[in-house]
Amino acid sequence: MLQVNMQSGGCLGLTLATVRKEVIGNATLYLGDFFELIAQGVIPEKSVDSVVSSPPFIAEDLGLVTDEEYYEWYAGLLAKLEPLVADYALLFNSNTRLYDITQRFCPYGRPLIWDKFRGQAPYRYEPIFIHRMSKARFDITNSIFTDCYHYESVDKAKMVHPYENPLEIYERWLINILAFREGEKFTRTILDPFMGSGKTLLACNNLGLKSIGFEINPDYFEIAVETIRNGEGSCTAHLGTRQRIKSALQQQKLTEAIPV
Ligand SMILES: C[S@@+](CC[C@H](N)C(=O)[O-])C[C@H]1O[C@@H](n2cnc3c(N)ncnc32)[C@H](O)[C@@H]1O
Repeated sequence: MLQVNMQSGGCLGLTLATVRKEVIGNATLYLGDFFELIAQGVIPEKSVDSVVSSPPFIAEDLGLVTDEEYYEWYAGLLAKLEPLVADYALLFNSNTRLYDITQRFCPYGRPLIWDKFRGQAPYRYEPIFIHRMSKARFDITNSIFTDCYHYESVDKAKMVHPYENPLEIYERWLINILAFREGEKFTRTILDPFMGSGKTLLACNNLGLKSIGFEINPDYFEIAVETIRNGEGSCTAHLGTRQRIKSALQQQKLTEAIPV
């Protein structure tokens, strides 16, 4: 584990923040709030090729109340990504937000669809929205071999994060769409601002790509470290329910409020 001292780029420009950073293979993991850490200059401009991430999609988890507030937060996220990212952001979200996100933020309009093989169940698929950065160097449409991928969700009994996605989705599908063009490795560095159990970074390590991940919750950060170090399913901590993530995040907010 490395402790890194960084001069804050915050409004006072005086605070010195101590950030926990782990490097595992080609993956660099930061424990902390993505928005705060990028404000401190952790990621240089345009140093990331593309983003693959599943941002929080429940307004309440972000301390927000209405959908409108959520979309403001989402717009803010895209605005923060623009200077850092060269090409695309592929962002998972709930299928209940399919219309709103497409209409407000995706002029291109065609999401990728993860079909979870759940028959007629209400949450049987999840959209992955394609956000093109203003200076994207290629047209992603030429790289999408399949826009609907069939794969079961992680078995509930084996989940270590309530919103954990299967490794295969990243490794066999999303990162391939971005990384390999005409047989060449085009994308070099992928960012996941909300890494959870760390599957995006694990997939990047397996594919020989560099990656950067952020996680605000110390419990989930530990899970990501173990998963990226030892592989999918290696972490035996069971956090289980959605309620647990909420109380863990709550606790995290309280710790952050205590000045160091
Ligand atoms: C939907 S989950 C990601 C799940 C992940 N894709 C997986 O497969 O495990 C979103 C994650 O973002 C984290 N998070 C929320 N706000 C954050 C922030 N501002 N900075 C960094 N991480 C954050 C949450 O703690 C949560 O683990």
